[in-house]
Amino acid sequence: MANRNLLLCVFSSFIFIVTLAQNTTDNLKYVDQLIGSANGGNVFPGATLPYGMAKAVADVDSQSNQGGFTTENGNVTGFGTMHDSGTGGSPSLGNFALFPYASCPGDDVNRCRFPKKERKVTYKPESVKASPGYFGIELSSGMKADMTTAQHTSLFRFSFPSSGNSTGGSPLILLDLTDLADSRQDNATISVNSETGRMTGSARFLPSFGSGTWIGYFCADFTGAAIRDNGVFVNSRASNATKEIKITRSINASPLPGGGFIRFASNPADGILARIAVSLISSEQACTSAEAEIPDFDFEGTHAAAEDAWREKLSPISVSTTGVDPSLLTNFFSGIYRTMVNPQNYTGENPKWETSASAPYFDSFYCLWDSFRSQLPFLTILDPLALTQMVQSLISTYEHEGWLPDCRMTLCKGYTQGGSNADVVLADAYIKGLGADRSIDWETGYSAVVKDAEIEPFSWSNEGRGGLDSWKALGYIPTQDFDYNGFGTMTRSVSRTLEYAYNDFCIAKMAEGLADEGDVEKYTERSGNWKNLFYGYLFNGQDTGFTGFFQGRFQNGTWHNQDPLWCSTIDPSSSRICSLQNNGQETFESSLWEYGFYVPGDQAGLIATYGGPDAFVKRLDYLHDQNITYIGNEPSFLTVFQYHYAGRPALSAVRSHFYIPRYFSPTNAGLPGNDDSGAMGSFVAMSMMGLFPNPGQNVYLITPPFFESVSITSPLTGKTATIRNVNFDPTYAGIYIQSATLDGKPYTKNWIDHSFFTEGKELVLTLGRNESAWGARVEDLPPSLSEYVGFGNGTVNRTVGFERRWRLEGRVGSVEGGASGLL
Ligand SMILES: *[C@@H]1O[C@H](CO)[C@@H](O)[C@H](O)[C@H]1NC(C)=O
Ligand SMILES: *[C@@H]1O[C@H](CO)[C@@H](O)[C@H](O)[C@H]1NC(C)=O
Ligand SMILES: *[C@@H]1O[C@H](CO)[C@@H](O)[C@H](O)[C@H]1NC(C)=O
Ligand SMILES: *[C@@H]1O[C@H](CO)[C@@H](O)[C@H](O)[C@H]1NC(C)=O
Ligand SMILES: *[C@@H]1O[C@H](CO)[C@@H](O)[C@H](O)[C@H]1NC(C)=O
Ligand SMILES: *[C@@H]1O[C@H](CO)[C@@H](O)[C@H](O)[C@H]1NC(C)=O
Ligand SMILES: *[C@@H]1O[C@H](CO)[C@@H](O)[C@H](O)[C@H]1NC(C)=O
Ligand SMILES: *[C@@H]1O[C@H](CO)[C@@H](O)[C@H](O)[C@H]1NC(C)=O
Ligand SMILES: *[C@@H]1O[C@H](CO)[C@@H](O)[C@H](O)[C@H]1NC(C)=O
Ligand SMILES: *[C@@H]1O[C@H](CO)[C@@H](O)[C@H](O)[C@H]1NC(C)=O
Ligand SMILES: *[C@@H]1O[C@H](CO)[C@@H](O)[C@H](O)[C@H]1NC(C)=O
Repeated sequence: MANRNLLLCVFSSFIFIVTLAQNTTDNLKYVDQLIGSANGGNVFPGATLPYGMAKAVADVDSQSNQGGFTTENGNVTGFGTMHDSGTGGSPSLGNFALFPYASCPGDDVNRCRFPKKERKVTYKPESVKASPGYFGIELSSGMKADMTTAQHTSLFRFSFPSSGNSTGGSPLILLDLTDLADSRQDNATISVNSETGRMTGSARFLPSFGSGTWIGYFCADFTGAAIRDNGVFVNSRASNATKEIKITRSINASPLPGGGFIRFASNPADGILARIAVSLISSEQACTSAEAEIPDFDFEGTHAAAEDAWREKLSPISVSTTGVDPSLLTNFFSGIYRTMVNPQNYTGENPKWETSASAPYFDSFYCLWDSFRSQLPFLTILDPLALTQMVQSLISTYEHEGWLPDCRMTLCKGYTQGGSNADVVLADAYIKGLGADRSIDWETGYSAVVKDAEIEPFSWSNEGRGGLDSWKALGYIPTQDFDYNGFGTMTRSVSRTLEYAYNDFCIAKMAEGLADEGDVEKYTERSGNWKNLFYGYLFNGQDTGFTGFFQGRFQNGTWHNQDPLWCSTIDPSSSRICSLQNNGQETFESSLWEYGFYVPGDQAGLIATYGGPDAFVKRLDYLHDQNITYIGNEPSFLTVFQYHYAGRPALSAVRSHFYIPRYFSPTNAGLPGNDDSGAMGSFVAMSMMGLFPNPGQNVYLITPPFFESVSITSPLTGKTATIRNVNFDPTYAGIYIQSATLDGKPYTKNWIDHSFFTEGKELVLTLGRNESAWGARVEDLPPSLSEYVGFGNGTVNRTVGFERRWRLEGRVGSVEGGASGLL
């Protein structure tokens, strides 16, 4: 609340109450949490609040269970309460699974199968139901589980086939000291209260993509039937005579199974309710949360509150449904939903430093390398209060841990993939108006990004940047750098150089408001370091008809040679090592070809380097048409819209329709890669709403929304911004902007800034079936560090890219196909 008041004072010279216009459309009904629950989307499809810490779902043992549950190839091993969404790497969280048994064979507790490898059961695929704040499933045994959550607490309702049958057995629920990745360390504990059945305890686990360990605590209570007995289990044996254990990991790959159990005297018709809260502070705190958040085990009430929370989060945005295929609405709102599942709000749950409503703590930034591009920028529009808290949290993480994180999960430092991309996150928030927000300590935020740029950490696999001596002396990160100041994986010299350069560009943007001219100049100059790796000739790589790529360079200046297609989707070798391994390449999870576009601060300079806008467009087309880029990984995002910088906004529109819905269908297997904590969801949302960010800059690239209109009410100012398509064509043949007005006046720029949202402007786009000259003149192009050159007298050759585009699309302008695009 304190933040909201502060923001209101800052953002308006007059005080008014923010009331979000309640729209008649219930956006909630378009949310399908199961999108991305198969085919490696790895989303968390269960019950959660926005940014909730409790995330309840059925956990399965499929190969791709990073988010807990999948709709493919898995058997249910339990019902966990902590999860992440859309991550790659090893499965994340899944802690403190419950598992219900209708009864034990022969009524003998030792004949229930406790270890999760033995107890797992198949489920009925058609029984799976997921909606905001809810998940339900029926196992093949006939056992039904429904679940909902509050902030730190899950509520499960287990009903058994013989429910209501007075002689129908004695249900048992166990609580397993486990997680999805079997990462539990030594000395987990559980204690079962024989009177109340309450179970409390804790265990230490490993983070799924980071260093160190963390401890999770829980507090579980049960209701619905009288307690028969309770106790603990170890491996396959249990006893009601023992109420407490401390258990080691043992020496095998999986930790020794262990936990608590509770058995009930009857099998009630309404099932048994299990309430479990988690904490990173103590079991007592978990119990306090449980009692405060779900005091009466009120399933419907908890579910309704979760639904309301989601309804409110989705309420600032409304779209016209006229003519639009409902599947696109599902795609859109489900993408939006996924942007608010992670990061998670762990305020009050941080044992390392005090956090509170005025000093929030967010965790599960997983990872910023993914989310800086469009997810966090999207939240700046839709949920700026949450984004403010995330920025405050990143800055206080810097204060207490010494560095901004690049990736962070469950209190641990995650692995850095490329640059110090928290710099982009801070700059993006700063220039989009949060810079005026005094509740954010921007001076400290600025010292944090400067530290990234100036001081090398001892372990730059976890924070900051490596190779800073070389960076400052040579203006690039050398391939096989000699670096004795700090240590990290000595690969990715090209992608790190490009990312560091853009990170410095963002620092310069912040310096304009927070430091002196000297810093602005210094970081602006360093942002040009990308030029030092441009090699204008072709090495002995595969000839794609293009010459001039970024290449690695040794410390002595000699060029290193990597085939520009390596680590692309069409890499001739499918076994190339392209991630964080020590034997990885000079680009991270991407090729030289694709990284060849990663100069977000100086597109004009890059276009000139490539020989002008036509050559640039040909390259971008080749990148997409030949499948060099992969829309399922985040470096591709901006390349979809970079045509804008060559004066060809029409081609960005075509390209976004090329990918959506072809590569993003609203089906379980519909995502092209891991959702990455909502990064893919935000790509869908922002592409479809027609404004895509160049993060770190006050720039949204304009394309026609996929709907006749989109309205977004700023939660900060209460004003509503609207984008409307005139001549809207739901078959998407007419996706070319012919002219535009902003608040009724002609608007020719192909981009717009964030005041569009905060000031509630109206952008009206008149569409046609041919590319037009709209947004094509140099003065219409988005800002760039260098001047645009090589654009002739301000006209571009619209034949380039477009003719072929018509053929490629088929449905688009097939009648006119082949006609000259020169207007
Ligand atoms: C799930 O269980 C069924 C039946 O026991 C079995 O056929 C199947 O292989 C199991 N699936 C996995 C992924 O273990
Ligand atoms: C009730 O449970 C008992 C014992 O499991 C079983 O024999 C009986 O058929 C059940 N009755 C009904 C109506 O389900
Ligand atoms: C675990 O507990 C045992 C027995 O109390 C103790 O000897 C050991 O030091 C503990 N290990 C850790 C890592 O705390
Ligand atoms: C406790 O366990 C023992 C041994 O399995 C069993 O005989 C007894 O009935 C159990 N107590 C209760 C209350 O069920
Ligand atoms: C949302 O509300 C606005 C203003 O009340 C209205 O103009 C618009 O048509 C509504 N959108 C939908 C999709 O109903
Ligand atoms: C995060 O949690 C804190 C403490 O409960 C709360 O004050 C804050 O409003 C939450 N933030 C968001 C964005 O929900
Ligand atoms: C520069 O260093 C590289 C890598 O050690 C080496 O292969 C190359 O021969 C050196 N070039 C010169 C001119 O010394
Ligand atoms: C690109 O990939 C898509 C999907 O895998 C495929 O349909 C298409 O034929 C590929 N295009 C080229 C040029 O290989
Ligand atoms: C598109 O442009 C071509 C060539 O200028 C022209 O023949 C055609 O009529 C145009 N189509 C529309 C719908 O304006
Ligand atoms: C701009 O350049 C184009 C192509 O070179 C030419 O056709 C046109 O006449 C020029 N326009 C002006 C105003 O110079
Ligand atoms: C425009 O590009 C096309 C295709 O590359 C080319 O054939 C044509 O000569 C170009 N026109 C101008 C005026 O440069």
